[in-house]
Amino acid sequence: LGMLLILFVVTFLLGSIPWGVVISRLVFHKDIRDEGSGNIGTTNAMRSLGKAGGAAVFVLDFGKGVASGALAVALAGVLAADSAATGLPQVTPLLAFCGLDKADAVMDAARLARQVALAVAFAGCTLGHIFSPWLGWRGGKGIAVAVGALFFVFGPVGALLEIAIFAVLVLATRYVSVGSVAAAVACPLFALYYYWGDWPCWAVITATALVVVWAHRGNIDRLRHGTERRIGDKKKEPA
Ligand code: G3P
Repeated sequence: LGMLLILFVVTFLLGSIPWGVVISRLVFHKDIRDEGSGNIGTTNAMRSLGKAGGAAVFVLDFGKGVASGALAVALAGVLAADSAATGLPQVTPLLAFCGLDKADAVMDAARLARQVALAVAFAGCTLGHIFSPWLGWRGGKGIAVAVGALFFVFGPVGALLEIAIFAVLVLATRYVSVGSVAAAVACPLFALYYYWGDWPCWAVITATALVVVWAHRGNIDRLRHGTERRIGDKKKEPA
């Protein structure tokens, strides 16, 4: 449990690095929070810093998610090696009593350690991005960072399917936020497939996805009032 807490804190801190603010200030000498929608993410970076600025913010935010997922896998590997080496002495008598195979139990423990570590890292980096301590516990909306982590949490196929949902909806509606919210809503459904039976992990992933939807509440409100900005639309948004 201590290791998982450390993983959460480390991925939260990683996620909390507000690359949109750092890049806009250091490279473009303006604050992305005073521009366009005021959000610190890729969409607003594209809008206010241009393609190169937007791409840089995306790669760095996405990278936070990838790094968090990789950290989870590494930690799970260490925990699995540990349980394999010790041979789960604490449960061995119980397994024998139930007529179960110890090797299977070690494998199962390794799989579970990986699932739990991934769910914790997914929550850590995404929530760190949305509630960044460096920005007074405010931040971005979590899409790029979460998708980066999904390459580990669901694996490449699941992550690419999520990106496909996002892309199809953005192309069809020209609203980035529609794609973002749809991908976030789809996340618990994908998690049903990848985390079936691991319900605490599923709950952590689902709760994180709901926070991402909540982070888009301003967009959802604007969509309902027909004032959300479409891609290519230059006019300033109401706050
Ligand atoms: O995920 C963020 C995107 O959906 C909307 O960004 O800047 O239009 O609020 P923005």
